[in-house]
Amino acid sequence: MSLHILGTGSYLPPTVATNDDLAKLVDTNDEWISTRTGIRSRHVSTDEPASVLAAKAAKAALENSGVRAEELDLILCATVSGEFIVPSMACLVQREIGATCPGFDLNGACSAFLFLMETAAAYLSTGRYQKILIVGTEQMSRILDWTDRSTCILFGDGAGAAVLEPGEDYLGSHMTVKGGEEVLRVPTHKGISPFWTAGEEHPYVYMNGSETYKFATRSIPQEVEALLSQCGVEQSQVDWVICHQANRRIIEAAARRLKGIPAEKFLMNIDHCGNCSAASVPILLDECNRKGIFHRGDLILMCAFGGGLSSTACLVRW
Ligand code: COA
Repeated sequence: MSLHILGTGSYLPPTVATNDDLAKLVDTNDEWISTRTGIRSRHVSTDEPASVLAAKAAKAALENSGVRAEELDLILCATVSGEFIVPSMACLVQREIGATCPGFDLNGACSAFLFLMETAAAYLSTGRYQKILIVGTEQMSRILDWTDRSTCILFGDGAGAAVLEPGEDYLGSHMTVKGGEEVLRVPTHKGISPFWTAGEEHPYVYMNGSETYKFATRSIPQEVEALLSQCGVEQSQVDWVICHQANRRIIEAAARRLKGIPAEKFLMNIDHCGNCSAASVPILLDECNRKGIFHRGDLILMCAFGGGLSSTACLVRW
């Protein structure tokens, strides 16, 4: 499929909540959080909803790409914490950045940025689209149960974006979905239907942590091994790994299984971002891009997992 990454952007809201700040809200402490997850702080939005975070990341990506908003042919967004169900996040971003093209959203939870890449690559392959903006944005703090210490310490707010054009750099992808809501879900509000008689579940993140942990540590290496064998690429040829930033221990466990890829190739920003769900992969991608870590021709392996349950991996040439 066709894809070349022209540029990236990201935005983190300025307010930082440290583990000590969270210890004032729930019965936890910095030592527990940092040793179990690798998280020391996360950004939290105080007045910018997910669409504002998205538009700021999108503008940064356009600038980094040298592309004007009017040149975009399509905008694809992903979020689980947008301020509206309608209009879509893509419609709000379109207005905020001054684009005129169509756009729509998809829901892939923490794997969403890889689903966006796959969708964009398919559209670019048709030859009908020349410039596509993809954005993952989350205000996770609005959908967390701030009395549940097992989930509220894990997530952060932010947005990441990329501008894509046709090219030969999407070397392959591998995606798996194991459908079900038992392990990880965010219920919607039950509404006020006078006819509804069944119960209500709180509209906040629910997660069975240990089941998610087991799923992630098993599925990431499986996706990566399947992807690389499909592409005919050895683990030793991978230059960098951008893995969904959910837990440092999950990434380290995956790295131990993938023995051909040295541990230092697994890039991380979880210490200061936490898990930003759909925004996690593109925020890290942009941070590394701006630090000048990637060189032309580098093979970048991206992998993610999350609610669905889903696990995904793709291989991109920089
Ligand atoms: N602070 C202090 N103690 C906490 C705590 C917190 N924030 N959260 C849970 N605990 C307690 C539990 O109540 C439990 O106490 P108990 O033994 O008295 O019952 C104890 O710590 C151990 O809990 P447990 O859930 O077994 O911890 P864990 O080592 O499995 O780590 C997670 C919990 C959430 C960090 C881990 O399961 C995880 O990372 N799961 C995957 C999460 C993930 O990737 N989510 C995103 C998916 S996209």
